[in-house]
Amino acid sequence: MEADFETLKNFVKQEFTGEGTGHDWYHIQRVLHLSQIIHSDTGGDITVVRYAALLHDISDHKFNGGDFEAGEKEALKRIEGHNINSEQKKHIGEIIRHISFKGGGEKNQIHSLEGKIVQDADRLDALGAIGIARTFAFGGHTGQPIYDPSIPPKIDQKESEYRNRRSHTINHFYEKLLLLQDQMHTDKGKSIARTRSNFMRQFLEQFYEEWNI
Ligand code: ADP
Ligand code: NI
Repeated sequence: MEADFETLKNFVKQEFTGEGTGHDWYHIQRVLHLSQIIHSDTGGDITVVRYAALLHDISDHKFNGGDFEAGEKEALKRIEGHNINSEQKKHIGEIIRHISFKGGGEKNQIHSLEGKIVQDADRLDALGAIGIARTFAFGGHTGQPIYDPSIPPKIDQKESEYRNRRSHTINHFYEKLLLLQDQMHTDKGKSIARTRSNFMRQFLEQFYEEWNI
């Protein structure tokens, strides 16, 4: 099991190294690490947690032309032949299918403990100093401006609107990032999210102070 996992990890590492939108190998590595930190608090099936964390961005709809099924399919292909049972495989696939944030107006579909752990870990990496850096990297990648005070945030968006609206990166803090704190599942996740969200609020205050000098 361990050797299979390490081999797969090296493949994923090669594939994601140098990715330029904040979904690079180090993001995956941090999510894997944070998942393990949360798991040591909550328990749960560590095999499912580690595989789901490692493969959670393997074919993200944001980068594959909008195919929501591809991530799960691709992940299941990668774990063929690994010594894990079919229940675990199914569970890993489900987590990958549902992990992504779909907009403030959509219902979250993650229900298992293992899914909650990996979703919390992925969300924690969207927060704090690293979260801020990733958000501006992603915004640059999609060609949106840093800020445009004439476009206010829209919180309760349906998924299609959340994905397609032309906006600016500062709005992403209100449309997603600052909503995450209240959507964390685990105690450990909540506590780390609180600190990181406070830091982001401080960042925004300073940002407006400089903007309005
Ligand atoms: P998930 O990882 O849940 O699929 P997203 O696709 O919303 O979440 O985003 C992953 C990360 O990419 C975010 O945390 C953020 O840093 C960045 N990102 C996504 N959408 C935007 C956006 N519209 N503007 C700026 N950054 C974004
Ligand atoms: Ni991710």
